[in-house]
Amino acid sequence: MRVSTICQVGLIATAAEALVITRATIDQCLTDSGVPIDTQGSDGWVRDVTSFNIRLPYLPTAISVPTTIAHIQNSVLCGKKLGIKVSAKSGGHSYASLGFGGENGHLVVELDRMYNVTLDTTTNIATVQPGARLGHVATVLYEQYGRAIAHGICPGVGISGHFAHGGFGFSSHTHGLALDFVESVTVVLADGSIVEASRSENTDLLWGIKGAGSNFGIVASWKLSTFAAPEVLTLFGVDLGWNKSTAVAGLEAVEYYAKNKQPREVNFRIGDYNRGKPGIEGLYYGTPDQWRTAFQPLLDTLPAGYTVSEPKTSNWIEAIINYSNYDNIDWITPSTPENFYAKSLTLKGLNGTSAQNFVDYYFDVANNVVDRFWFYQLDIHGGQNSQVTKVANDATAYAHRDKLYLVQFYDRYETDETYPDSSFGFLDDWVDATTKPLPQSDWGAYANYADPRLSRETAVQLYYGDNLPRLRSLKAKFDPEQLFDFTQGITPA
Ligand SMILES: Cc1cc2nc3c(=O)[nH]c(=O)nc-3n(C[C@H](O)[C@H](O)[C@H](O)COP(=O)(O)OP(=O)(O)OC[C@H]3O[C@@H](n4cnc5c(N)ncnc54)[C@H](O)[C@@H]3O)c2cc1C
Ligand SMILES: *[C@@H]1O[C@H](CO)[C@@H](O)[C@H](O)[C@H]1NC(C)=O
Ligand SMILES: *[C@@H]1O[C@H](CO)[C@@H](O)[C@H](O)[C@H]1NC(C)=O
Ligand SMILES: *[C@@H]1O[C@H](CO)[C@@H](O)[C@H](O)[C@H]1NC(C)=O
Ligand SMILES: *[C@@H]1O[C@H](CO)[C@@H](O)[C@H](O)[C@H]1NC(C)=O
Repeated sequence: MRVSTICQVGLIATAAEALVITRATIDQCLTDSGVPIDTQGSDGWVRDVTSFNIRLPYLPTAISVPTTIAHIQNSVLCGKKLGIKVSAKSGGHSYASLGFGGENGHLVVELDRMYNVTLDTTTNIATVQPGARLGHVATVLYEQYGRAIAHGICPGVGISGHFAHGGFGFSSHTHGLALDFVESVTVVLADGSIVEASRSENTDLLWGIKGAGSNFGIVASWKLSTFAAPEVLTLFGVDLGWNKSTAVAGLEAVEYYAKNKQPREVNFRIGDYNRGKPGIEGLYYGTPDQWRTAFQPLLDTLPAGYTVSEPKTSNWIEAIINYSNYDNIDWITPSTPENFYAKSLTLKGLNGTSAQNFVDYYFDVANNVVDRFWFYQLDIHGGQNSQVTKVANDATAYAHRDKLYLVQFYDRYETDETYPDSSFGFLDDWVDATTKPLPQSDWGAYANYADPRLSRETAVQLYYGDNLPRLRSLKAKFDPEQLFDFTQGITPA
């Protein structure tokens, strides 16, 4: 079914024929070295070739399906020998289909058959295989060991893309980014070697993997620290009731609170999933009464018209399940695909003209887009008490710790519709209006919300900021021939 979608999108016949020839060669190399593959047209192929964002389908030359680290190594060696770019695919949730390399013709290393999670109960360090999905990781750690990690909420997202480029969720203000939990990694490098990167060996590689991990090799195993899963959490929500004349004041109140007052235990975002009805959703580490005390300073400064929902207590796994919007999060298979375009912003602040532009566009333009589903989310990422911000901006390759907001914009059509070119301007113009008054040093973009309409050069500047020069040197050291190249990859210095 998806294969025919790819054909409709217009793979040129000659290119398709060329791929068939190369496919036989690479499939042979993989099979000769004992690596399981998806043969074209098999059920496995159809599943693994389906991108989460069906707007961006790409046709791999071959798909290997490792179940061991040696299989990953042999996949890399075949790609190297035959001169075919290699892309790792973990959960396959890249917004730009970067698990396929963002283009046709790669050898895709499909990791999602490798999803085991174990914990060393002496050190409380988890070992996680590279194709495990977030919901499965959270379930095993909680149910078997009572442990937890801060990460995003969608149960089908893969550990590797998520942890290699950031990983922000409802516990990040309290506990940091997902990548802050990475103790060490086992990596297959472009020369086919298997190395460990930790605080004592290959420290530069570990630095690069923690924020720009898709560029240097394939992570074949993750070692992650964990914390004791909290038993008392409070889920809270506020319907903000903003309109065009109150929203700027509302944003300024949120910004002041987030920068100066928000205790570490308060995690929240502003989101609008319902055209012009923005609300707060959040998770507090403590009881509802403690939350009321911690949150009252913000409520006291919000414009009139808001409604606070009754806060709800829950334990760790209930909170994760609540925000996933599913009943069961223990997933080892992909999410249902969507047809969308998304963008992101990381912002030091959104005040003055920038807030006014954001709000004007929101009420004058966005709210008139009524023929499809769209949303934005403004995550409170930084601020003086955020664990994300407590780590130095150059301590890992993740370059946005000095940013207060992590913003996502998402514009979706139905899967049987075509996303028209004329619709890209909706989000592009919203982002442009918001950033226009800001100096370049005050904003960037998030690699985990990859935006395929950014040129490679713009993308790497916005994703990696001041860390880019060092990352280019690392690329020259670990992958000078660019075996792991992709459409938004870092080029070697
Ligand atoms: C429904 C949904 C909800 C989301 N929610 C959040 C959220 O709450 N917070 C947040 O921060 N993000 C969120 N994201 C974004 C998500 O973090 C990224 O899309 C992430 O990169 C997906 O990881 P993946 O392994 O599923 O993707 P993939 O498409 O498999 O991979 C993404 C990138 O990582 C590379 N990669 C994959 N495996 C490896 C490996 N083993 N070694 C090296 N490189 C590798 C790929 O080549 C590709 O470049 C969400 C995405 C979706 C679709
Ligand atoms: C996962 O663990 C189970 C149980 O130990 C084992 O049988 C299986 O082979 C493991 N899977 C992989 C991909 O390593
Ligand atoms: C906006 O909301 C405020 C507060 O609820 C209200 O007083 C005001 O009348 C509203 N303005 C418009 C234009 O609806
Ligand atoms: C999650 O919690 C919020 C706040 O208590 C509540 O409004 C919502 O209905 C819950 N959602 C689910 C899926 O349980
Ligand atoms: C906007 O942010 C800057 C930098 O944080 C701050 O100095 C300024 O006072 C803010 N302006 C408003 C209107 O809040």
